[in-house]
Amino acid sequence: MRKTRWKWTMLGVPVSIAAGCVTYPDQATTREMTEQMVSASFSAPAPALLKRLQQDPSQQICSKLGGAQLTQDEAAQVVKLARDSIKFPASGKLVGDWKVGDQLAHDGAGDRIQFGRLEQRKGNGALCQNCHALEPGEINVGNVGPPLTGYGLQRGNSEAIAKYTYEKIYNAWTVFPCSNMPRLGATGHLTPEQITHLVAYLIDPQSPLNTK
Ligand code: HEC
Repeated sequence: MRKTRWKWTMLGVPVSIAAGCVTYPDQATTREMTEQMVSASFSAPAPALLKRLQQDPSQQICSKLGGAQLTQDEAAQVVKLARDSIKFPASGKLVGDWKVGDQLAHDGAGDRIQFGRLEQRKGNGALCQNCHALEPGEINVGNVGPPLTGYGLQRGNSEAIAKYTYEKIYNAWTVFPCSNMPRLGATGHLTPEQITHLVAYLIDPQSPLNTK
């Protein structure tokens, strides 16, 4: 008799677990509900801000549920989309003025949301210092990305390096799909011309990044 009751109790365990699963929404549904709640609470009036709630096709691939590893096909798709996004400057010149690049690299303003509005600025800063160490001796630097100190000293300033650097800044996912480096040109945060100045700042032998 005792044995039978035990058996029934054991049977109840999986049944109640299974019933529990039916009551709670799965991971994908929970995520969809959360995204809807966040969107609904985001009452920014500017269309430019609302646009940020829409993930583009590569971001959708990168936002896989639970941070699952990308498959080879998905990674290849993200790299392809990144490559297709690249636009070169009208001048065709990839290396601009390192002095302008120096200012941009240390400038974190532009495209920020203040009091529910998008910051209005003539040109956006490039944010590099927020994530990278730049010139030797600078104290207040980011460490999200690798240090760029001496970048040109290590790699030189050949055409191939200029092109790699331009593409990396324009869309970091050409090289490293779904990395934490923002796609600064592809998202429209920086113009192609601004990117040429940043390329110069990174690779020009005169740049303080390479001389100090
Ligand atoms: C939000 C943080 C963030 C910002 C802002 C950022 N980066 Fe990065 N960067 C990273 C991370 C993380 C990596 C490493 C992963 C990768 O390669 O995408 C990286 C990698 C790089 C690399 C490749 C390094 C190598 O050894 O080849 C370069 C070059 C670079 N960043 C330049 C820049 C420049 C120039 C700027 C400003 C225009 C910038 N980054 C802004 C996070 C950032």
